[in-house]
Amino acid sequence: MLLAIPEVLTPAEVAAARAALDAAEWIDGRVTAGEQSAAVKQNAQLAEGSPVAQAVGEMILGGLARSPLFISAALPQRIFPPLFNRYGEGASFGVHVDNAIRAIPGTPIRLRTDLSCTLFFSEPEEYDGGELIIEDVYGPQRVKLPAGHLILYPSTSLHRVTPITRGARVASFFWLQSMIRADDQRALLFDLDQTIQRLALEKDANDPCVVSLSGIYHNLLRQWAEV
Ligand code: NI
Repeated sequence: MLLAIPEVLTPAEVAAARAALDAAEWIDGRVTAGEQSAAVKQNAQLAEGSPVAQAVGEMILGGLARSPLFISAALPQRIFPPLFNRYGEGASFGVHVDNAIRAIPGTPIRLRTDLSCTLFFSEPEEYDGGELIIEDVYGPQRVKLPAGHLILYPSTSLHRVTPITRGARVASFFWLQSMIRADDQRALLFDLDQTIQRLALEKDANDPCVVSLSGIYHNLLRQWAEV
């Protein structure tokens, strides 16, 4: 499932983050790449754990925590501390698949990358090119979202970033391990949850059908979740 999550950050948060990111020191992006992806990766990154990465990363995690749509779609178990990249003119990232397992730096914790996230910090009109192309079961999907918006997609997907021909594209990227490992089961739970929310608005949260469907949702979650 490929899903855009609008307005994870407020315009004020985006502006504050951009000021900090634009003033930060950027290093070669190949530091977090595996062997295959390092060969096709040409961009710059913030050093992991740098003060700006930590502060803006906390801001992003705060935004995600207050997004019911993100929680419903991702059912996150562990979220990797957000990383940041910058693609200037000519930069690109060729087709690759993200590493399956990531160690959280400075901790003994590892996570399985079930879902990949990109949160945009540049507005689409600030740059040409720089589209995130995700290979989906329905063919390639081209993604370029407003600043503060996030795209959530299965980490099993092949993806790439097309070359920048004007301006610069600043974004955050990270992964998460979901309580629900299988994409199809997670998509079913998401559809069910969204339908229950709509029904609760049309009827009433205590309507017998809403209560019954909520029970079914939680019982499926109980069967499938790994916590
Ligand atoms: Ni990637």
